[in-house]
Amino acid sequence: MQHRFLALAMLASADAAVISTYTTVITSSVLPPYFQSTPEVFQGPTPTGSEPFLAQTNPVTFSGATTTTFFPASPLQTQEPIQDQPAGDNIFTQMGNIGPYRSSPGFGVDEYPLPNGSEIVWMNMLARHGSRYPTDPNPLGSLIPGSGATFSGQLSWLNNWTYVLGTNILTPLGRQELYDSGVLHNYQYGHLFNPNSTTKLVLRTTTEDRMRKSAQNFAAGFWGLGYDEYAQIEYIIDETGFNSTLSPTNLCVNNNNYRTSAGQNVSTEWIGNYTQNAVKRLNSMSSGFTWNASTVYSAQQLCPYETVALGYSEWCDLFEWQEWEDFEYSIDLDFAGTYGFQSPTSRAVGVGYVEEVLARLNHHLITNATAEVNVTLDSMNSTFPTNQNLYFDFTHEVDLFSTLTAFSFRQFAPLLSATSYQANRELIVSHMVPFGCRLNIELIQAPAPVPTNRSGGWSGYESGEPTTYIHFVLNQRTLPLGQSIPACGDRADGWCELSTWMQAQADALTLADYDYACNGNYSPPAWGAITNGVPPSS
Ligand SMILES: *[C@@H]1O[C@H](CO)[C@@H](O)[C@H](O)[C@H]1NC(C)=O
Ligand SMILES: *[C@@H]1O[C@H](CO)[C@@H](O)[C@H](O)[C@H]1NC(C)=O
Ligand SMILES: *[C@@H]1O[C@H](CO)[C@@H](O)[C@H](O)[C@H]1NC(C)=O
Ligand SMILES: *[C@@H]1O[C@H](CO)[C@@H](O)[C@H](O)[C@H]1NC(C)=O
Ligand SMILES: *[C@@H]1O[C@H](CO)[C@@H](O)[C@H](O)[C@H]1NC(C)=O
Ligand SMILES: *[C@@H]1O[C@H](CO)[C@@H](O)[C@H](O)[C@H]1NC(C)=O
Ligand SMILES: *[C@@H]1O[C@H](CO)[C@@H](O)[C@H](O)[C@H]1NC(C)=O
Ligand SMILES: *[C@@H]1O[C@H](CO)[C@@H](O)[C@H](O)[C@H]1NC(C)=O
Ligand SMILES: *[C@@H]1O[C@H](CO)[C@@H](O)[C@H](O)[C@H]1NC(C)=O
Ligand SMILES: *[C@@H]1O[C@H](CO)[C@@H](O)[C@H](O)[C@H]1NC(C)=O
Ligand SMILES: *[C@@H]1O[C@H](CO)[C@@H](O)[C@H](O)[C@H]1NC(C)=O
Repeated sequence: MQHRFLALAMLASADAAVISTYTTVITSSVLPPYFQSTPEVFQGPTPTGSEPFLAQTNPVTFSGATTTTFFPASPLQTQEPIQDQPAGDNIFTQMGNIGPYRSSPGFGVDEYPLPNGSEIVWMNMLARHGSRYPTDPNPLGSLIPGSGATFSGQLSWLNNWTYVLGTNILTPLGRQELYDSGVLHNYQYGHLFNPNSTTKLVLRTTTEDRMRKSAQNFAAGFWGLGYDEYAQIEYIIDETGFNSTLSPTNLCVNNNNYRTSAGQNVSTEWIGNYTQNAVKRLNSMSSGFTWNASTVYSAQQLCPYETVALGYSEWCDLFEWQEWEDFEYSIDLDFAGTYGFQSPTSRAVGVGYVEEVLARLNHHLITNATAEVNVTLDSMNSTFPTNQNLYFDFTHEVDLFSTLTAFSFRQFAPLLSATSYQANRELIVSHMVPFGCRLNIELIQAPAPVPTNRSGGWSGYESGEPTTYIHFVLNQRTLPLGQSIPACGDRADGWCELSTWMQAQADALTLADYDYACNGNYSPPAWGAITNGVPPSS
């Protein structure tokens, strides 16, 4: 197969620009399919939505009488009058996996500067794609317009509302989130990239359109638009039945059936309860349309989806602050049960990536069948290099969440109450896997042991040998290792001595019990029956 490319080369000189046009023929022997950005294959659905017009649709007034502070769109207009919203807070902090990127407020430890003499020598990033359209069209798009219903009061605008969102692909904000992340990563880790290297840095993503474009936007942020000179993006097939650690739910059968439904079931019951007031409220402003829990939940989901697509959504301020907290909680219950420690398949889904990180740390290829790994790709240096000191991978949030489970971040394991809102909890999906989220794993070489207690300030290294530490950072905040892996110790900085951590991961693959978890014939565990991300009898 041959593809024709038209290339434009611009040669600038002091007083004139010369443009020369030529065509080249690139054959597939030059670039294997997994390194080709075009034409797209296994890209998934790509219908786009209406172009936004926020300058015209933005209803926010700047009047001293109504708002004390004016918040310009940046680029979204997230300033909404929400009943009972605490001062300084914002509903976009309560949107689980479908909220725009923001850094995490933290996971229980403070951040410390690198001590003088220590060096970051290696970094592995696993990032989610940016803000996207819904993966399935929102049902209200077909239920409301043309239904003959009429809406009044706070719902009047709904008389003229139509559904204009696309499906699956990145929104403009989604592109920005990944571009910004690329810029941030250049500031954070650019020094680890060697521009003189004779080989390009391999970045891995999946074939889905939003995954491709997330990696490309990230690369543009990191290197600039000429990133092709330094980076080779690898597109791993993202389709049911194919092996990929960047889209592992595609192969794990039980992750997609009733054996992993306890979290969804308690979430659905939770939604049925907390939406009761909103159902009444919206029904009082509607005639010819009767709201119920599921349509009210769809309405609530439209707030973040329309906002990231169009810049502003009328759906947002229909809900009160507590209803947004309950919305987040509905997603937290679902993720705990489907991709977290209450799921029988979460370790299995996440462990393939854990094995890849271990292989990179040990500088070896993967040649034996290993949960979800595509051994064809991971047994070649060109597609699974293990000599880089900088790795950039792109994935989906559910896979990143499962990977955190497989890494044994047990601080997210405690069972959430299915019947009462638990304000005091570690597992908050919007802190972990919002759009554009990213997990950074750093290796730090210290000339001597770093004291475990650093809260009183830096008082020098302890006496001892040079020591290498591993440091996990999720959305720009440290994920403390000692809280989950006791052998790492109660370190103020959340680091763990590398060999201690490696030892703790040694049984990750066995523990995940991939074949039984994903293909086994076990009865669906009830909510709370699973506490370690694996089926009960395994
Ligand atoms: C950092 O360590 C070096 C070598 O030990 C020393 O010369 C230097 O003064 C230190 N710098 C600071 C800011 O402490
Ligand atoms: C809806 O659109 C119609 C026709 O464009 C217009 O007359 C009406 O004022 C609009 N209603 C609302 C509530 O915006
Ligand atoms: C790259 O090569 C240039 C020119 O030889 C050299 O000055 C520079 O230090 C090299 N950079 C790295 C990171 O090796
Ligand atoms: C592994 O990846 C290669 C290259 O994309 C692909 O041809 C092959 O079908 C994949 N294998 C599996 C089992 O998914
Ligand atoms: C979840 O609910 C569905 C439908 O009611 C049911 O078939 C399934 O067994 C339930 N799952 C669990 C784990 O109870
Ligand atoms: C909720 O309302 C919608 C729209 O009327 C309807 O299609 C759906 O079946 C209802 N769901 C339930 C559970 O009653
Ligand atoms: C791969 O499988 C072979 C044969 O079962 C085994 O001898 C070898 O130790 C395995 N390699 C790794 C890295 O697990
Ligand atoms: C795909 O993954 C399955 C499950 O781990 C494994 O049995 C199979 O060998 C893998 N295939 C490839 C080509 O990696
Ligand atoms: C991969 O690269 C390493 C280091 O250069 C080399 O030892 C090994 O033979 C290569 N493996 C393959 C399968 O090409
Ligand atoms: C929902 O409300 C019912 C009746 O008040 C209660 O029995 C049930 O425990 C509640 N469920 C949840 C998930 O809050
Ligand atoms: C750490 O050091 C601080 C300040 O010196 C002290 O207050 C605190 O008790 C110490 N914490 C532990 C766990 O030793």
